[in-house]
Amino acid sequence: MKSLCTVLFVLLAVPCFAADLTGTWVVRDPLPDGTFRTTYLDLHQEGPRITGTIRVTQFYFKIVESTDGSEGFTLTGSMMDGTNERRVKYEGKLVGDELHVATRRRPDSELIQMVAHRAPPGEGAYPARLPLPAIHKVADNGLARTPPMGWNSWNKFAGRVDDAAVRAMADAMASNGMKEVGYQYINIDDTWEAGRDTRGDITTNTKFPDMKALADYVHAKGLKIGIYSSPGPNTCAGYEGSYGHEEQDARTYAAWGIDYLKYDWCGARNLYTDQQMRALYQVMGDALLKTGRPILYSLSQYGRADVWKWGADVGGNAWRTTGDIRDTWDSMTTIGFSQDELAPWAAPGHWNDPDMLEIGNGGMTEDEYRTHMSLWSILAAPLLAGNDSRNVTPAILEILTNREVIAINQDRDGKQGRRITKSGDQEVWTRPLSGGAQAIGLFNRGGLPAKITVNWSDLGLKTAPSRARDLWAHSDLKLDGEEYSVTVPAHGVVMLRVSK
Ligand code: GLA
Repeated sequence: MKSLCTVLFVLLAVPCFAADLTGTWVVRDPLPDGTFRTTYLDLHQEGPRITGTIRVTQFYFKIVESTDGSEGFTLTGSMMDGTNERRVKYEGKLVGDELHVATRRRPDSELIQMVAHRAPPGEGAYPARLPLPAIHKVADNGLARTPPMGWNSWNKFAGRVDDAAVRAMADAMASNGMKEVGYQYINIDDTWEAGRDTRGDITTNTKFPDMKALADYVHAKGLKIGIYSSPGPNTCAGYEGSYGHEEQDARTYAAWGIDYLKYDWCGARNLYTDQQMRALYQVMGDALLKTGRPILYSLSQYGRADVWKWGADVGGNAWRTTGDIRDTWDSMTTIGFSQDELAPWAAPGHWNDPDMLEIGNGGMTEDEYRTHMSLWSILAAPLLAGNDSRNVTPAILEILTNREVIAINQDRDGKQGRRITKSGDQEVWTRPLSGGAQAIGLFNRGGLPAKITVNWSDLGLKTAPSRARDLWAHSDLKLDGEEYSVTVPAHGVVMLRVSK
């Protein structure tokens, strides 16, 4: 409904709006790491109508609806994220030379009140779109002949990761047996970044006082170190991205001694479509190769644009196939059991990545975490632990360091496993292994123990395998007859390695 004020303006040209809001307004919220979360309102007012943009660090909305009256104004912003529209609403009023505004991060979250001040015109403007390169094939970097193994900060620490936590993880993993069984990369996810210096070099925020010293520390433990960035101007958490600085950032990573890059789409969505992402991933693939340092390249774009079809061609060693995992049975199984059809795209050097492990983060039972570890191993998925390695129970450590299960994950043929049967909540998956062996996962997704049977003929075998090993019980099995039946705990797994 139009306000009285709007009606007066339209009919009688009587202006009764709060004031002219035209201009650039900024709210700068300091974060504990020395960086800022900024909100820029770039407004243009014509009578009661307000147009323009709202930029909240990594989000960039075009104003699509507005109202204005003596009580104040409202704005609705819209942005596209792939094919999804995201909307935001602001309400506010001019108080002296301050703009008092309120918004919600999500429709159901609390109202956040902010005070914006006038900023020089153009400050905080979203960067222009840079032209995209022609598509070509980036050479294979020769890394990740088996799925990458290591640890990543995001699942447990999110924005709280700092230098001390990374050192502590390296200490723990070098001494608790994880390094011995193959965990190698210690990966810093989002929130290490600050802005750029006068030369345009990326800088670290106060949580990471000296990245080179940190890399040296991790290397001295016999481990490798990874970092994170985005092809967009900002990362998913709103920190500085590599947009327009790809080669420069790759050189910085190499100079610091970085061994792994996770490159996360989020911030680029305001400038490019999903169909254009291949070109942006190629830019960083080229830049990493050009440094001459072996840097494992992990694409994080949530499985959009059929990344498995082109991930290897941009130099990617792994690509996310889904949205973010959470530490719940539902999230882990929805992701893990949906990977069957992607199997043909996995190969040495290039892996489907159903996201990082949640094992040990507390949201699932030990049986459920065994299912997580078994499934990720059959899927030839990267094994990036996501827990706090300093406080790990013996049971969780045993799950993460089960050498027999890890050997399946790391099988040198690099063939991803597939589902061979499904009956209600019970599924059997197999993975072909080098030397003609096979891994078998008998998964019970149901809430009660269930008997699961695998027929040797389903595995293409005429008779029972002569050798069989239960990889969680660590015991040999004697098999005969035409099938194998076992009672599998609720949400649990029995995992075998069999050979003729
Ligand atoms: C995205 C990624 C996550 C994590 C966060 C960091 O959501 O999918 O894995 O890297 O960004 O902001």
